Amino acid sequence: MAFTIAPDLATALRRDVVIADIASASVADNQSSSIPALDDESPVLGLIDLDFIERQYAALEVAFSRHAAEKSVLHAVACKAIPLRPILRIYAQLGAGCEVASAGELELAIAAGFAPEKIVFDSPAKTITQLHRALELGVVMNVDNLAELARIDALLNTESTLAETVRLGVRINPQTGAGAISALSTAVESAKFGIGLADAGAREAIIDAFLARPWLTQLHVHSGSQGVSLSLAADGIREVVELALQINEITERAGRGKQITRIDIGGGLPVNFAGEDSVPSFADYRAVLEDQVPELFDFEIVTEFGRSLAAKAGTVLTRVEYAKPMGPRRIAVTHAGVQVATRTAYAPEDWPLRILAYDAEGKPRVPSALIAHDVAGPACFSGDLLATDRMLPELNPGDLIAVPDTGAYHFSSPYSYNLLPRIPVVGYRSGESVASEDDITFEYFMVHRGETVQGVVANAGPARLESYRG
Ligand SMILES: Cc1ncc(COP(=O)(O)O)c(C=O)c1O
Repeated sequence: MAFTIAPDLATALRRDVVIADIASASVADNQSSSIPALDDESPVLGLIDLDFIERQYAALEVAFSRHAAEKSVLHAVACKAIPLRPILRIYAQLGAGCEVASAGELELAIAAGFAPEKIVFDSPAKTITQLHRALELGVVMNVDNLAELARIDALLNTESTLAETVRLGVRINPQTGAGAISALSTAVESAKFGIGLADAGAREAIIDAFLARPWLTQLHVHSGSQGVSLSLAADGIREVVELALQINEITERAGRGKQITRIDIGGGLPVNFAGEDSVPSFADYRAVLEDQVPELFDFEIVTEFGRSLAAKAGTVLTRVEYAKPMGPRRIAVTHAGVQVATRTAYAPEDWPLRILAYDAEGKPRVPSALIAHDVAGPACFSGDLLATDRMLPELNPGDLIAVPDTGAYHFSSPYSYNLLPRIPVVGYRSGESVASEDDITFEYFMVHRGETVQGVVANAGPARLESYRG
């Protein structure tokens, strides 16, 4: 009989089995093993639960499914959260779209197999070359400001064929206020994104822009990422839906029908970094939206979730290289630090991470006799810490530590200070169900090879100064 485990618990159990696998592969020193190992060349790994990736995307689809039956919904996964080609390819195969915010992300989305009409290009700094490329590809684009719109006018005037496939929207800053993390709050009065709706003359200018351009059919809003409550996000969406209704009333009166057909609600569903549960859920968010902005569901919808789709699929696994007493605490020096968890190192209050302790055989350490630790990374500055004053079982060299919830914006967005190499990333998959809890076996896949020391040196510039024009 198939054995099923509660999904959130399953994630933790599955992680434990994988860590035990890796620990035994690490001592076996078997180069041909199909199980990844931690060794001196790769003392830190990124792990991605591929089944979780698929399950969480399915949860998003289900949460919006009632709407999908009536109006189209495009779930454009935020590339910035997990810019790894094989993972993006999985999303493309699941039918997702991809939200991109730079020329590199745009080309990666194409390379990963997303159809242009499922790619949504957001960026506050699009160059004319990038605008031309996006128009030529026929991707969806959210225009950031009126000057960008003027550039698009000019491009369409000189090359009328560019207008054939393009689907364009305008990004609105609803100016509804900040969430808990100011650096990620994009709906404050003076945020750098979009057109500030409450600014003098802005509403009229947006309406005029739509009236003059029948090809503008979408409005976009993204109030922030992590730290923004569901209700605050819904406030921003309500502002934008009301603007869409106002524009549609005018275009209908002019006999042009409802010009705005689609609302892009951005991403931003927060992630629970304090425990295993995936809360709030996509269904919770849908319920808040239905309550606060029921008119949203009269439109087609685009979503741009990133962190909530992938964070809980990811774990950083490393070993303790050294451990020593220092003042009032014990310091465990590991190979995971600022290069994989940059935000935690620089803004630890905003980005706390859990630390899970395992012995060298990959068995979870029993949480007894806890002592205060700082868990440090390898980089050459004191702030390179994943946790400060954290109560953990005494960590010793050779023990393993796992850092869960790192599947988005962590090891996939490396920071290269000290030339710490980009870490290898491995995906694992067990398939649907297993006969018993002890029976779970995994297949492992290379998601990213990481960098070698030689690669890092090769990337540090030419051997000597070369002529600039070269
Ligand atoms: C425009 C836009 N859309 C989507 C996202 C993804 O947000 P999250 O990963 O919090 O879902 C971001 C994140 O910064 C963003 O800026």
